[in-house]
Amino acid sequence: VSESLGDRLPPSLRAALDEAAPGFTLVLVSVGTGGWPHLALLSVGEVLALDDRTLRLALWPASTATANLAREPRVTLAAVLDGVSLSVRLTARPAGTLELPSGELAVFDATVAEVRADVAPYAVLESGIRFRLTEPAETLRRWAATRSALRRLGLPGDGAHAGAP
Ligand SMILES: Cc1cc2nc3c(=O)[nH]c(=O)nc-3n(C[C@H](O)[C@H](O)[C@H](O)COP(=O)(O)O)c2cc1C
Repeated sequence: VSESLGDRLPPSLRAALDEAAPGFTLVLVSVGTGGWPHLALLSVGEVLALDDRTLRLALWPASTATANLAREPRVTLAAVLDGVSLSVRLTARPAGTLELPSGELAVFDATVAEVRADVAPYAVLESGIRFRLTEPAETLRRWAATRSALRRLGLPGDGAHAGAP
């Protein structure tokens, strides 16, 4: 049964994003052309919680997910944490691009509209989607660089922001 947790990120999700544990995976559901839900996976290397209502996402610029977000701002981010299936409804705004040695990323700042938590009495959720890094040292270096560049963009609307006019 799913219930609304309101419009703040749950502490469990903020902690997971702050901790940036490799392997923790989020599913980004965007609306594709023709209305089809489109899935992309996001690692903790590309998602920051700026506060309890704002996430900053860095997406591969050529992806369908990026094109979808630019066209339709409403997306859902899903993850399993502490035995709960969480889905976070967000409104995403394009916030410029990040030029990094590893390549370019499309940045979106996303405001939480609603968080829902789903559990079923007959079952215990043991994990969400998880992955293992094939080149951990290199990937962790890249994530650290991406996360600190995302942090340096400043808060949405403060003028230091990549998307500011
Ligand atoms: C294990 C795994 C991890 C991924 N991590 C990311 C990520 O952190 N950021 C990202 O933008 N895409 C990531 N992707 C890629 C997206 O799932 C997807 O391939 C990308 O958005 C391009 O596909 P699309 O054009 O269908 O959106 C990952 C994919 C896999 C399989």
